[in-house]
Amino acid sequence: MSRIGLWLVGARGGVASTVLTGLAALSQGKTRPIGLTTELPLFAGLDMAAWADFVAGGHEIRTIRLADAAMDLATRSRALDPDLVEQVRPELDAIDHRIRPGALHRVGSTIAALADPGVPRDDSPRDSIARLRQDIEDFAASEQLAHVVVVNVASTEPAVDPSRLPATWDELEPTLDDEACPLPASSLYAIAALESGCSYVNFTPSLGSLPEAIDQLARRQKSRHMGRDGKTGETLMKSVLAPLFAHRHLEVMSWVGHNIFGNLDARVLADPANKKAKVASKDHLLREILGYAPQTLVSMESIESLGDWKTAWDHIHFRGFLGTPMTLQFTWQGCDSLLAAPLVLDLARLTDAARRRGEVGTLHFLASFFKSPQGVAQQEFIRQFEMLEAWVKGRKT
Ligand SMILES: NC(=O)c1ccc[n+]([C@@H]2O[C@H](COP(=O)([O-])OP(=O)(O)OC[C@H]3O[C@@H](n4cnc5c(N)ncnc54)[C@H](O)[C@@H]3O)[C@@H](O)[C@H]2O)c1
Repeated sequence: MSRIGLWLVGARGGVASTVLTGLAALSQGKTRPIGLTTELPLFAGLDMAAWADFVAGGHEIRTIRLADAAMDLATRSRALDPDLVEQVRPELDAIDHRIRPGALHRVGSTIAALADPGVPRDDSPRDSIARLRQDIEDFAASEQLAHVVVVNVASTEPAVDPSRLPATWDELEPTLDDEACPLPASSLYAIAALESGCSYVNFTPSLGSLPEAIDQLARRQKSRHMGRDGKTGETLMKSVLAPLFAHRHLEVMSWVGHNIFGNLDARVLADPANKKAKVASKDHLLREILGYAPQTLVSMESIESLGDWKTAWDHIHFRGFLGTPMTLQFTWQGCDSLLAAPLVLDLARLTDAARRRGEVGTLHFLASFFKSPQGVAQQEFIRQFEMLEAWVKGRKT
């Protein structure tokens, strides 16, 4: 049996604490694998890790205890079973000892304000990368891991335009000494992971490994990466429903989506700079699926009483035969962290399975898991899922 590392950036957040509670529960057979794509019969013959093979650690900027973060989801949001959190408390406490201080380069003032005073703030990007890399390499060595998958589940950073960055790794690398280096922390984590030969997955809309130069680094290191932004709720619905309108040749005139939720992520996304990155990620796929741009509005508001429960209300105004206007409305009420956590676990397993197959570079076959899949133009969920199926069956995607 080979042990596989799961290194979470943002290790004490809502998604991370649900991932880690779920991983402990799955490893000990305390829960059924509902919501996990890799537990479908399709994946039965795939060479992939068992849940019990994973060892977790991570980076964080807050010093709360992991078990307390999980218990908060249980008591305040009623998202997790408090008895289950109690049962896996020893595992969560053990993981807490493997969580190291993160990096704060260009995360914006809202995220920086969350950070414990002990988190380094003035390091150069190169020094931060060296420190993050050492943490991951120490983890791999002390736990005797065959491979580490680094997954970014940290707060969403303010948007960075990748077209303003140097196009090649050889041009980008020297800028790491410069305080003016535009790379945010998510990209520094990506570089640290890839330089260590680990894999990197970006579950957030932050820049991460999106720049072409970082893809070049991944190929050079014979490592792999994918992102961005897990497709868990409203946007998953869009990528399923928009093809219905496209294939029936119905004309979508407008699509309005209002989202309300009340967890820490919502508080960070209440900052307009951070919100801009998320809204862009939720909005682009309609025009890409439909082939034209209906009027769209995506709103996101933090409503504290809702905790981890997100309500998305979508209003779709479309025209049918003879120009008659019609409406579809849907309401999605999901528990954000519970929707995200199984995707993170599937992504860790599939990224490791790709390593077993010797794959390097961008993992396009994982597109169905993301709102903005890197290097993939196809936005229809079912067609993206077919890419995953083809990959599992060993066909070229
Ligand atoms: N359904 C979902 O929940 C969903 C879907 C898609 C994407 N996401 C994204 O996943 C991320 C996590 O969501 P969440 O609900 O767990 O948020 P959260 O606010 O509960 O957790 C984020 C964690 O990251 C930590 N953090 C922030 N900046 C950091 C840094 N530079 N280094 C290390 N740690 C850092 C925070 O302290 C916090 O503990 C967010 O970016 C969110 O937008 C979530």
